[in-house]
Amino acid sequence: MTQETQRKQRILSGIQPTGTFTLGNYIGAVRNWGVLQQEYECLYMVANLHALTVRQTPADLRQQTRQAAAMLLATGIDPKQSILFVQSHVPAHAELAWVLACNTQFGELSRMTQFKDKSAKHADNVNAGLFTYPALMAADILLYNADLVPVGADQKQHLELTRNVAQRFNNLYSPTFQLPEPYIPKTGARVMSLQEPEKKMSKSDTNANSYILMTDDADTILRKCKRAVTDSDGVVRSGEDKPGVTNLMSIYSALTGKDFASIEAEFQGQGYGVFKEAVAQSIIDVFSPIQQEYARILADKAYLDEVLQDGAQRAGRLAGRTLQKVYKKVGMLQL
Ligand code: TYM
Repeated sequence: MTQETQRKQRILSGIQPTGTFTLGNYIGAVRNWGVLQQEYECLYMVANLHALTVRQTPADLRQQTRQAAAMLLATGIDPKQSILFVQSHVPAHAELAWVLACNTQFGELSRMTQFKDKSAKHADNVNAGLFTYPALMAADILLYNADLVPVGADQKQHLELTRNVAQRFNNLYSPTFQLPEPYIPKTGARVMSLQEPEKKMSKSDTNANSYILMTDDADTILRKCKRAVTDSDGVVRSGEDKPGVTNLMSIYSALTGKDFASIEAEFQGQGYGVFKEAVAQSIIDVFSPIQQEYARILADKAYLDEVLQDGAQRAGRLAGRTLQKVYKKVGMLQL
């Protein structure tokens, strides 16, 4: 490692391979990942262990893990610059998660809104993994001593818990972990459902019109945008009283770089039809080159395997060092 890279700050982030990524995943997190790799030392992870907290079909999960990695490469993550890996390929994640779970309180985990939401949604499977999920996420981040974690707003609470657990561990056992900062985009940190704009856009939503997938073709994107719920006053303006229009404006703003004032001016007196078509076009313009690249990468199995092998080795080396330190500090017998 050169002195130059040693001085670079480190980034880690992850995404679950529980389905095709949505526009929310893209705007809230993934699109920043490629940009950040210019300036930081980055690790990006397909969080397949996290996916087990909800029932998965094994063959689908395997396939979606490959697809997730291919999609991340297609969005511009360069495996020479960044480390791209699959969580289960680095066993230290599960190992550190156990140690951290033993340093995380039941009360803290009970306050996590994601746990409350998911246990309400999957009432037949409120498993222990769903509850201790934030300890695994803390392990993901702390293993690499990440300085920054680029995520959407819904992950902020997990980041706060990670900091608390790290601080507690440092106080108890001596300084070990870097306290990570969340990196949340100003626009698009919370992309909302196109059908119920008071809810987050989510790939697990039962209504396919509520989300746009990164693999949706141009016609589907246009149709979903046209069907997006707005309101009856027909004016393109943001505000708490206009959640549907505000959401579409945020998407358009995030993808075109235009601020709300210029978007309002652009569509003044034009009604929602023209506006929705423009929003759809801004999405199509960004997604179609990514989709071409995605198809190309996914077809090249040997390349994808090589990237993930290399990622697992590089991440494994870094993670192993932290885990050994931690095991020593907490009193695990070393042979
Ligand atoms: P996941 O897989 O649910 O989502 C991946 C990323 O996409 C962001 N995101 C959104 N951003 C804006 N609007 C939305 N509607 C939207 N939906 C999702 C999420 O905030 C996230 O950044 N626990 C994480 C995965 C994870 C992780 C980590 C992240 C595991 N380990 C370590 C950071 C660091 C999750 O379930 O993300």
